[in-house]
Amino acid sequence: MSVHTLHLAYPPELAIIIPTYQEAESVAEIAKWVAAALDGVAWELIFVDDDSPDGTAERVRALARRDPRIRVLQRIGRRGLASACIEGMLATSAPYLAVMDADLQHDAQLLPQMLHSLRHEGLDLVIGSRYLPGGDLGNWDRRRRRMSRLATRIAQIMLHAELTDPMSGFFMIRAEVLHRVVRRLSGLGFKILLDLFSAADAPLRFRELPYRFRARQQGESKLDNAVLWEFLLMLIQKLTGAWVPIRFIAFSLIGGIGVVVHLAVLWSILELFGLPAFAAGQATAALVAMTSNFFLNNLLTYRDLRLRGRALIRGWLSFVFACSIGALANVGIANYLFQETRSGWVLSALAGILVGAVWNYAVTAVYTWRR
Ligand code: GDD
Ligand code: MN
Repeated sequence: MSVHTLHLAYPPELAIIIPTYQEAESVAEIAKWVAAALDGVAWELIFVDDDSPDGTAERVRALARRDPRIRVLQRIGRRGLASACIEGMLATSAPYLAVMDADLQHDAQLLPQMLHSLRHEGLDLVIGSRYLPGGDLGNWDRRRRRMSRLATRIAQIMLHAELTDPMSGFFMIRAEVLHRVVRRLSGLGFKILLDLFSAADAPLRFRELPYRFRARQQGESKLDNAVLWEFLLMLIQKLTGAWVPIRFIAFSLIGGIGVVVHLAVLWSILELFGLPAFAAGQATAALVAMTSNFFLNNLLTYRDLRLRGRALIRGWLSFVFACSIGALANVGIANYLFQETRSGWVLSALAGILVGAVWNYAVTAVYTWRR
């Protein structure tokens, strides 16, 4: 690298943040593409890698040895697209921040135009859109297209913003706007753009630019059906207002599933062994429900802090222990309210459930899925 390009690179005006998971085969190519597209701009390129087993981070370090404008932020024991983007965006001094995928699906050629818009049009945000005229979804199959369309519609209704592609993972934002809202971002899941829009205090001034979503060059998509679940959570959070933690909502929804599991198991046992088996049936049903709740929470609520291997056993034990105390508290409080204060049975039961749920949530958040 010549003195001339070094001079151009510092301090960077634009940071491009690329979240990666298992993208070892793509990083060199995307870096080359970005560099070519941004000729004449002082940029830096930050890969945020969640310790991919394929050695993505090491590949980036190899690139960085040859070009100091490239860096990697390697996170250990964490997963999550949105939080990776946020942490990458916070790791730079550049006044403009772009987020794009590593797999060459987002068109790097759009970056100069995005930068131009932010510099000269008084905007907060420029978004690459696959749904504007001139844009394109590429080679996605019908199922994925339909899912994307549906999610897009729901997101549009939620946001009250005229966004044609609210699910886009390709955008450029003014750093000061991010810094203003960053503490209100949920950082969960992968809908970083939705997160930004709902966290903003004043409507964001934005513009969309069309681009063609290209076919993935290497590897495969990491977005699975958990996408739908995250979506449901977002919807509920919108309806309940932001003061209920999103994890508590998830935890409670799964608690509801636990009730169904409990009743189903109890019913089967009573069918098999008759009413005398009630007490044993209750205990078995409770244990099965707690276990399924533990795994569901581990998979969905705490996706980013997911326990694996041996940690799973310790986590399960602490979960069952905490929830057993929660169940005792639940029943105790409901009985107390019902008998001593003569509250109606519905109110008594609901109060017991609420206290039990908050207890379970609070204790397992600290002891089961500790950071
Ligand atoms: N650090 C980190 N951690 N990166 C991740 C993770 C993660 O847990 N999961 C995915 N990534 C990275 C991928 O390596 C890739 O660079 C980028 O995030 C997007 O992931 P893909 O797996 O390629 O997603 P996609 O192509 O199916 O989805 C695209 O369309 C969605 C909208 O429908 C992406 O552009 C999404 O951002 C977009 O929301
Ligand atoms: Mn992709």
